[in-house]
Amino acid sequence: TLTESEKAAVIALFEKISSSYSSIGAEALERLFLSYPQTNTYFSHFDLSHGSSDLTTHGGKVMTALGKAAKKIDDLDAALSALSDLHAFNLRVDPGNFKLLSHTIQETLAIHYSSDFGASTQTAFDKFLTEITAVLTSKYR
Ligand code: HEM
Repeated sequence: TLTESEKAAVIALFEKISSSYSSIGAEALERLFLSYPQTNTYFSHFDLSHGSSDLTTHGGKVMTALGKAAKKIDDLDAALSALSDLHAFNLRVDPGNFKLLSHTIQETLAIHYSSDFGASTQTAFDKFLTEITAVLTSKYR
């Protein structure tokens, strides 16, 4: 679990990046699809070319969901309940893919927000995404 100062660091980071959710999310998705092509299979109905509106729109949705979850960091189970159902029961995303997306989100932040993403913030953010992943993959069986 995150310490109080780690929670504060995560919340502050989301506030800092909130105006760029779409571009950050789009880049993280593009990195995911290029580095781990097996993840493309879930998005065959999307235009995955660089700069596509599908990437921007979906990237914005993912980062917005994470930003909302950060505001409910003490109650992630409730905050993510619907998304957890969606990914486990409807989409059936392989649980291992969450770790890959978590990684490419962090790469994207490290590149574009290096001054706000120092070692301690990065550690806090990594723990946050690990908790998110645990909730989003908790309903698989
Ligand atoms: C849809 C968040 C991980 C595949 C969504 C939506 C959100 C979201 C907010 C839109 C839900 C809606 O429209 O009601 C997240 C978060 C993740 C995550 C926060 C982890 C940090 C993944 C992974 C995959 C994936 C790892 C597969 C590699 C999908 C697909 C959709 C979706 C296929 C439906 C897209 C569409 O047809 O519009 N996700 N997701 N998600 N997600 Fe995830």
